[in-house]
Amino acid sequence: CGIVGYIGTQEAKDILLSGLEKLEYRGYDSAGVAMISEGELHAIKAKGKLYNLRDKLRGVEDSARVGIGHTRWATHGKPEEYNAHPHTDKQATVAVVQNGIVENYRELREELKAKGHEFVSDTDTEVIPHLISEYLSLNSNSLLEAVRQTVNRLEGAFAVAIICTQFPDELIVVRQQAPLVIGFGQGEFFCASDTPALVSHTHIILPLDNGEIARLTPLGVEVYDFRGERRVKYPQTLNWHPSSAEKQGFRHFMLKEIYEQPTVLRTQLDAYFDPEWYLQTQNPTVGERSRITGSNPPSAPASSPGLVQLNLPQSLYENLEQIQIVACGTSWHAALVGKHLLEQWAGVPTFIQYASEFRYSPPPLTANTLTIGVTQSGETADTLAALEMEQERRKSHHSPAYQPRMLGITNRPESSLGRLIPYIINTHANLEVGVAATKTFSAQVMAFYALALDLADRRKTLKAEAIESIIKKLRELPPLIERLIEEQDDYIGELAHQFNETSDFIFLGRGINFPIALEGALKLKEISYIHAEGYPAGEMKHGPIALLDAKVPVVAIAVPGLLYEKVLSNAQEAKARDARLIGVTPKDSLEAQDIFNEILAIPTVDESLSPLVSVIPLQLLAYHIAALRGLDVDQPRNLAKSVTVE
Ligand code: G6P
Repeated sequence: CGIVGYIGTQEAKDILLSGLEKLEYRGYDSAGVAMISEGELHAIKAKGKLYNLRDKLRGVEDSARVGIGHTRWATHGKPEEYNAHPHTDKQATVAVVQNGIVENYRELREELKAKGHEFVSDTDTEVIPHLISEYLSLNSNSLLEAVRQTVNRLEGAFAVAIICTQFPDELIVVRQQAPLVIGFGQGEFFCASDTPALVSHTHIILPLDNGEIARLTPLGVEVYDFRGERRVKYPQTLNWHPSSAEKQGFRHFMLKEIYEQPTVLRTQLDAYFDPEWYLQTQNPTVGERSRITGSNPPSAPASSPGLVQLNLPQSLYENLEQIQIVACGTSWHAALVGKHLLEQWAGVPTFIQYASEFRYSPPPLTANTLTIGVTQSGETADTLAALEMEQERRKSHHSPAYQPRMLGITNRPESSLGRLIPYIINTHANLEVGVAATKTFSAQVMAFYALALDLADRRKTLKAEAIESIIKKLRELPPLIERLIEEQDDYIGELAHQFNETSDFIFLGRGINFPIALEGALKLKEISYIHAEGYPAGEMKHGPIALLDAKVPVVAIAVPGLLYEKVLSNAQEAKARDARLIGVTPKDSLEAQDIFNEILAIPTVDESLSPLVSVIPLQLLAYHIAALRGLDVDQPRNLAKSVTVE
């Protein structure tokens, strides 16, 4: 869910609506706002996407200068108007929006019912305004105090924003394990679940920490802990380009973000690897010149240290015996590619777990272990909770070898992940709006290339020349990917017509491309609602082969290298069962032309680097099939871009 709030001198309505628009990726099954004007609370809500609320608000005159808003991803209760936020108490004096889950809401509701409170929704949130009004009836002097007492009664993970008619110059916000950021304007203050809702107003932000309550008035912001002690906090400046939030002529954000991938990869290559060194290898005089002017002399290319510039401390790597990675969804797929690289290049045994599984069945503690959290948003509740749990259980261990060594890979260094974990690799993908991740996936994969090379370099599992050669080949990828997208976009757009009636797909890949098969299947499921399975090609004969017939297309990723012939044989097995075969493979191979009915042509690159090219046609395939079916590509049903509940 997404929360916004405003207090200041401008009319609140349009600010709230435009803020919600920027947060719609967090949930879009209903929306609502509440504002206070002339001592009265007005709450307006609508089922479905935000435009329904916008329609309802059109023509509504409201001079309110304080208000809160919400866009919902249903957890408790169906996506109906009566379950939409804001929720109020009976007298409609207190209005509340919440992102998260109040786990003990049943007990609280019974307790409140016994005191005469009536409830009109199925949500967990509704207990909050009732509790606040209960505490206000005992002490009517302070909304902050009533909120403080209320949140001390709540169990779970939540972010809350509250307004109250008795305190029209206050907006109270609370954070407990769900994100909440305050924005500072001139005589006006904003709050939101995420920064995209703030950047058009201000770049000065203050992310709250867990267990904090803030009182926003037109005069300023005060932050307290749950015991009521005042905290001293300093705002920070956000370094961010709002242009990412525009479609720039593309029909959908997802397509625009697919096209942005070469640019993102270039930014990363410059950030992770010494660009001076590369220039020098291309044109030796450049290096000479910079040495003469004394600007940042490049390290001698004969020794690789310095080529990878992630600036991670040696303490993370010292005596490293094991790596464990936690992630969800697409980030989990990027982690699988990472595992391959960390094991094959750096020789470190690497284990991947879904964050939601890791939390409740953590593996036995192992010594000298690096824990990596991968989350593009930096806010996924399961991932954060798994990492926090791991950090805590390691901190309480007596042996230094078991102490936490934590690393985060995220597109949002300012997120909750960035505050939880001391070392972060920024994936530099800029804002991604489409709910189905594309450029943030490639960027996470690129971050793993850098990490694996850094580790291989420090552990001397790869020679300096090998590392240099890989970096050079990585640098060759962006123009190849650019051409690939241009060449394949229209072709795949045409091909998509053939799958009008298709209801099942199988994606096959092996080795480093097995995670890409999973990712291709996930993309298709997410946005086209077609059932799709990703499978290791060699495993198909042990089960999924039973599903095959002429109606089930099989997409096989066949990249020249160790597993090329093996994948082609697996594809033949599918063909023998009448499956329609689509190859993600270089088009010049006669063998491939013979086997596949269709070829989604990719350039020939090293097998170890191929995930960055093989994923592109699969993203385009999912996109075009969904767009052709007229589906809401950027905001597919039932999903949300960052899931901040468990
Ligand atoms: C949601 C999104 C997925 C995403 C997953 C993890 O479920 O719909 O696309 O992969 O969260 O998100 P994260 O921000 O942690 O990478």
